[in-house]
Amino acid sequence: MNLPDYIEAKKRNKNYSTISYNIDSEFKNKYKGKTYFIKTYGCQMNEHDTENIKAILEEMGYSEVLDYEKADLVMLNTCSIRENAHNKAFGMLGRLKHLKEDKPNLIIGLCGCMAQEVGVVDILLKKYKFVNFVMGTHNIYRLPFILDKAIEFDEQQIEVFSKEGDLIENIPVKRENNFKAWVNIIYGCDKFCTYCIVPYTRGGERSRKKESILDEVKQLYESGYKEITLLGQNVNAYGKDLYDDYGLGELLEDVAKIGIPRITFMTSHPWDFTDKMIDVIAKYSNIMPYIHLPLQSGSSKILKLMGRRYTKESYLELFDKMKKKIPNVSISTDIIVGFPGETEDDFKQTLEVANYCKYDNAFTFIYSPRENTPAAKLKDDVSLDEKEKRLYQLNDVVNKYFLENNKKLIGKKVSVLVEGVSEKKENNFFGYTFNNKLINFTGEAKVGDIVLVEVTDAKTWSLDGKISE
Ligand code: SAH
Ligand code: SF4
Ligand code: F3S
Repeated sequence: MNLPDYIEAKKRNKNYSTISYNIDSEFKNKYKGKTYFIKTYGCQMNEHDTENIKAILEEMGYSEVLDYEKADLVMLNTCSIRENAHNKAFGMLGRLKHLKEDKPNLIIGLCGCMAQEVGVVDILLKKYKFVNFVMGTHNIYRLPFILDKAIEFDEQQIEVFSKEGDLIENIPVKRENNFKAWVNIIYGCDKFCTYCIVPYTRGGERSRKKESILDEVKQLYESGYKEITLLGQNVNAYGKDLYDDYGLGELLEDVAKIGIPRITFMTSHPWDFTDKMIDVIAKYSNIMPYIHLPLQSGSSKILKLMGRRYTKESYLELFDKMKKKIPNVSISTDIIVGFPGETEDDFKQTLEVANYCKYDNAFTFIYSPRENTPAAKLKDDVSLDEKEKRLYQLNDVVNKYFLENNKKLIGKKVSVLVEGVSEKKENNFFGYTFNNKLINFTGEAKVGDIVLVEVTDAKTWSLDGKISE
């Protein structure tokens, strides 16, 4: 048994090697005929991990089913970011407990960020004995061993490493579709924002070698992929642990030259967003003019308490620079309300920044204290009523601008990557514009193609359109 440990999780170790994954032959197709179901919570990093987990399970012989009640193995790839992410996973575990009463041979596994939490693993050990195995975020490559042991032995298998260990390349991947792909460029986070659990659940920043990333992108390009998202909890830190003069700006440029029609990245911290990055985004016509730039708070006092390393003023300076240099750029954000110590005046400053920036999209959250984070030790002094009031007030402000910005597009022709068929109607599709706006449209199209669509109407969260003649 390997249990999580926050002291280890906080350490940063820059000595790691890159190791190539290869499934042990004894596990290959060992479970042929068995089925799995996996449910994913949380961010794109988790979605992409799920793509790896699926591929490993399929190497072991498992095949996917979409109804968890029909599966021999159910895995939950969990998220710790806010309490409601926990609640969802525990809710699902409750349903699985009932299912297991009827199906005693069902194997249940929990992985993802919650597996890295001391408190969660403690609860699983004491109260959720029916969970057969727990696997952390740093050892996905060990899944065949852990699962095999869980099947063989009655005892709960817990394998969580709090030290991130080596960087593993060549883990197989079962991608969600054949036109849009995620590509990890950096793992972990060293920013330690005071409210955030990610640096403890995902370990230290570790960049993949540029050659590995560029090879993966080339392969995706040659297989006909249309859009890639370069992934990391803080992509701006890319390369700092490996190179003296090669960062995200240089990587974006090299990726753009490969020729994939649409390139984007996620998530970038406002701190450390270099001029080089802005220039490269502006220069290359295949880098999407879309940036997610989390604000978190508009008050410099709160930003300092959050450990965000920028002020309201420096954020706005960066924002203005992006708007000026990147034609038609869309900017989205994340904002937390009700952080400890947030006064009415601090919140007013957040509203001011939201009114100034007129974001194209915003994800707004009520502050949720997380185990072992520095902010959890501060007095959570804003009442829940007040937090909810601020959230509604903020949502009213940001929503107004989504609609206002969308309306400006009516009558324009926009390039759209067709992602699927909407409703059951014939010739009704949905996709995303080049600056990442959801659009529903009619006409002749094929999923996975990039088409020109005329915008006919605008709503708060989406556009309507028709294929342009
Ligand atoms: N790495 C990204 C954030 C990933 S988490 C970044 O730094 O920009 C996604 C969002 O969840 C954060 O931007 C933040 O707004 C929100 N979040 C993180 N921890 C939270 C907490 N304890 N309570 C409420 N929201 C939180
Ligand atoms: Fe969390 Fe901050 Fe790292 Fe983002 S940059 S993952 S908010 S610690
Ligand atoms: Fe959640 Fe972990 Fe992502 S906490 S947001 S799944 S990195």
